[in-house]
Amino acid sequence: MDSNDAPIGVFDSGIGGLSTLKDIRRALPAEDLIYVADSLHAPYGDKPIAFVEQRVETIARFLEAQGVKAIVVACNTATGIAVDRLRSLLALPIVAMEPAVKPAVRDTRSGKVAVLATTLTLSSRRFSDLVALHGHGVEVVAQPCPGLVEQVECGDLDGPATRRLVEHYVLPLVARGVDTLVLGCTHYSFLSPVIHDSAGPGVTVIDPSPAIARELHRRLEAINALAPLERRGQEQFFTTGSVERMQAVMSELWPGDVALRRVTL
Ligand code: DGL
Repeated sequence: MDSNDAPIGVFDSGIGGLSTLKDIRRALPAEDLIYVADSLHAPYGDKPIAFVEQRVETIARFLEAQGVKAIVVACNTATGIAVDRLRSLLALPIVAMEPAVKPAVRDTRSGKVAVLATTLTLSSRRFSDLVALHGHGVEVVAQPCPGLVEQVECGDLDGPATRRLVEHYVLPLVARGVDTLVLGCTHYSFLSPVIHDSAGPGVTVIDPSPAIARELHRRLEAINALAPLERRGQEQFFTTGSVERMQAVMSELWPGDVALRRVTL
């Protein structure tokens, strides 16, 4: 196979990264995409660091063995904990999610922004470095949101329990004067309508996924590795969890067909 025809690997602890995959599909319609949901081990956000590092390496090695030409870490938690190590292990281009602190700090009017993310992301060294680098003169509130990943994983995107949990996290931030919310976890993109409703019209919600898709495009273009434009890209979906359980939820979230396969990793 011509290396330009090789697929792009994308993974997350679960189905949150499908939000990033949608933006990648829009930006790169000719590319073949392989998505791995590590559903058996989701959520990563409250697991030990060494465990997440090991999962990230195992999944990336699986994708490498599928012959991918690049890997997208569609998970802020995996990025925060393990992307530096991954880059030292693999020679492939690796594009990784991280909370969009920079645009939030640039655009806030109230001088108060908040990052909604997992506990592990917000306690990572990478996150504190990001705030130290871009946070000047602005209050950056780190808001862990335990429970939200689980709501998305079970397909409850806007039921009463999900709304209550979102309000529990978002309303105090709005009361404190925060005018910009950064979605620092790919699962939360699927909760964006509920987060918008809770926060109200005066609050901007930033989702970094479109920027990641643009970055992937730039990286592949720079090394002349984009697929020929006349191709129509296909997707393959894998889960480490139960196909029966994940099939229905993934089909809800992905606009096309999902032929989900189980992989033991
Ligand atoms: N989608 C992952 C992220 O962006 C979810 C983390 C988790 O599994 O806890 O952080």
